[in-house]
Amino acid sequence: MTTAIDLFAGLGGFTEGASLAGVRVLWAANHAPAAVATHAANHPDTAHVCQDLHQADWTQVPAHDILLASPCCQGHARARGKDRPHHDASRSTAWAVVSAAECHRPPVCIVENVPEFQAWALYPAWADAMARLGYTLAPHTIDAADHGVPQHRIRLLIIATRSRAPLRLTLDPLPHRPAREIIRWDDYAWSPIDRPGRSAATLARIKRARRDLGTDVFLTPYYGSGSGLTGRSLDRPLGTVTTLDRWAIIRGDHMRMLQPTELRAAMGFRDSYILAPTRRTAIHQLGNAVCPPKVARVVAAIQAAA
Ligand SMILES: C[S@@+](CC[C@H](N)C(=O)[O-])C[C@H]1O[C@@H](n2cnc3c(N)ncnc32)[C@H](O)[C@@H]1O
Repeated sequence: MTTAIDLFAGLGGFTEGASLAGVRVLWAANHAPAAVATHAANHPDTAHVCQDLHQADWTQVPAHDILLASPCCQGHARARGKDRPHHDASRSTAWAVVSAAECHRPPVCIVENVPEFQAWALYPAWADAMARLGYTLAPHTIDAADHGVPQHRIRLLIIATRSRAPLRLTLDPLPHRPAREIIRWDDYAWSPIDRPGRSAATLARIKRARRDLGTDVFLTPYYGSGSGLTGRSLDRPLGTVTTLDRWAIIRGDHMRMLQPTELRAAMGFRDSYILAPTRRTAIHQLGNAVCPPKVARVVAAIQAAA
């Protein structure tokens, strides 16, 4: 059976997706105890380590066929805001991938990050380090919506193989799934839109969206609405799920925020996937996660190409 390890394992999107493709994930690590707890609850047969992966002793990690890694993307993502300093220590987490690969030299490494990762000043050095270990890199820019996930989520997936030619996958896009599918209409309480304390800007945005979309049932970015987007049809995939509570749903004169169970579906996790006990942590972990259906397709395609 093909085996893997998962670095920066978070909620477990990589582990879950690889497992769906029949891979046994032997070992998973993250420095946040809350992330390790959620991952372990869902993947009890995987060995878990809670540590800063800059400090890892890779000789203590089991040998494996596939190295899965999703180093921190906050340092690269545009979402972090223009006014933040450009240096961010979290970018250095990408070097842990090189250390792990140097120690074990697995046949395949799959690394996810935001597309801006390739614009990092040290990306050429990082790619060169992987090349010096014998890897040929095939960067793929993939929208999860093309792989059975009801959300547009564009991420960079670097497939590193110990082959002369880069392994470029051709994955046929699947039909898009509408955000409507994730809504649990009757499970949560709704509140009046026009209630005391609701900001004038929110009321104006909802009014504009109602007019622009020509419907009374739609999604709206409640926080982080700086994109200028007023509303979003439920007939399209959801916009990108972030680590902050972002999306609200409007139904007539009532509204509510999307709930973690709905965001879990929007990320492509199964309904039985256990979430963190608090809403804030659950949303944070979901917003950071890799979409399992996409991983399952990618891993299956890599195995078919081998
Ligand atoms: C992009 S998220 C990983 C997402 C994960 N693959 C998933 O599907 O949920 C990056 C993760 O790296 C963790 N992390 C950040 N710095 C770390 C470090 N130095 N050592 C270990 N984990 C770290 C964060 O807690 C976060 O969970």
